[in-house]
Amino acid sequence: MFGFNVEKVRKDFPVLSQRLVYFDNACMSLKPKQVVEKMNEYYEKYPACGGRSGHRLSREVDYQVELARREVQKLIGAGSQEEIIFVRNATEGINLVAHGLDWEKGDEVIVTDKEHNSNLIPWLKLKEEGVVVRVCKGNEDGTFNLKNLRDCLSKKTKLVAVVHVSNLDGVENPIADIVKTAHANGVWVLVDGAQSVPHKEVDVRKLDVDFFAFSGHKALGPTGTGVLYGKKDLLNKMCQFIVGGQTVLDSTYEGYDEELLPKKFEAGLQDYAGIIGLGEACRYLKRIGLKEIEKQEEKLNKLATSLLSGNEKIELIGPREAEKRSGVFTFNVKGMRSHDVAKMLDASKGIAVRSGAFCVHSWFNAHKIDGAVRASFYLYNTEDEVRVFVKEVEKICELV
Ligand SMILES: Cc1ncc(COP(=O)(O)O)c(C=O)c1O
Repeated sequence: MFGFNVEKVRKDFPVLSQRLVYFDNACMSLKPKQVVEKMNEYYEKYPACGGRSGHRLSREVDYQVELARREVQKLIGAGSQEEIIFVRNATEGINLVAHGLDWEKGDEVIVTDKEHNSNLIPWLKLKEEGVVVRVCKGNEDGTFNLKNLRDCLSKKTKLVAVVHVSNLDGVENPIADIVKTAHANGVWVLVDGAQSVPHKEVDVRKLDVDFFAFSGHKALGPTGTGVLYGKKDLLNKMCQFIVGGQTVLDSTYEGYDEELLPKKFEAGLQDYAGIIGLGEACRYLKRIGLKEIEKQEEKLNKLATSLLSGNEKIELIGPREAEKRSGVFTFNVKGMRSHDVAKMLDASKGIAVRSGAFCVHSWFNAHKIDGAVRASFYLYNTEDEVRVFVKEVEKICELV
């Protein structure tokens, strides 16, 4: 095995040859050329429909799609390929569970106070069916509070829907403890893994989660791809969400027989190039090694934190310790709008960061904060880039 070499990794991302410091990875990662080439392979060599026609091209599509499913299964440690459902994004995966479970009036769902809209709104929408949504508050510094979870649990709780790593501040929630606590009360757990799968080793079986959703586009994969993992017995019991072509074994004018897993949930013609590209992204992540990726991000976050957190004009969001914030550095420059800071960083040195509420409006509203600036690091970012970013932020601080 060769060691992690960031300069070598960067060569796989042609866009980095531009004047660009890309720190918007929590929103969307860049794509290595291996992923783009794999997608092109579909369009150039077997651009056909899977799952239906019996000809050569179609069979190749089926083969490649199932290889991709196997790659996803290996990446997240799922027990079988039937438990891997391809969806368009993490949001669709979460909605699939929200629509697929059988809800009764009075059932309760627990979420945390730092959920992305994608893991909040689908549950709030269930209020229309009489479902009660409880919000489990975290500690002052944004870390998880297990006692508050225990206090939220009741005989009516059906599901805990919790983010694995927060896109707001990078804090990782203690999923294994949350699952133990929930299961001891007969409650299922759905994990929003949009910010964990791309950045750290995840094993859904070790964590014993019931459902787990993540996005392809944050994990070096194509846009419009995502995955829902679910335990087989639960997925089998769940009702279908979108139905039509491919979700049935047979149909008459009167009715139809449901397809088996995983196709039961994969309606209509699929984004074959995207799915196959996602498989390649999983392969790439495993080849580089998620431990190495995590280490690189932590190193960069430690550097940014040590250089900026002492600045009295910087307000950091989340725990002060960099090691508790994965690869996420979220902050405000006192007296300045987050969007203005982001625009200045882009204009001066081509530094791409996220600004605003990052789809965690509920948290910002509760804290009466307009928004923030988020720099999020990934495997291709370097210490030099962090230093350029720090210097520009310091210059902006001097303007106020
Ligand atoms: C924590 C978290 N959950 C869910 C999502 C939504 O992901 P997708 O766009 O794949 O639906 C995001 C995207 O930013 C996220 O950061």
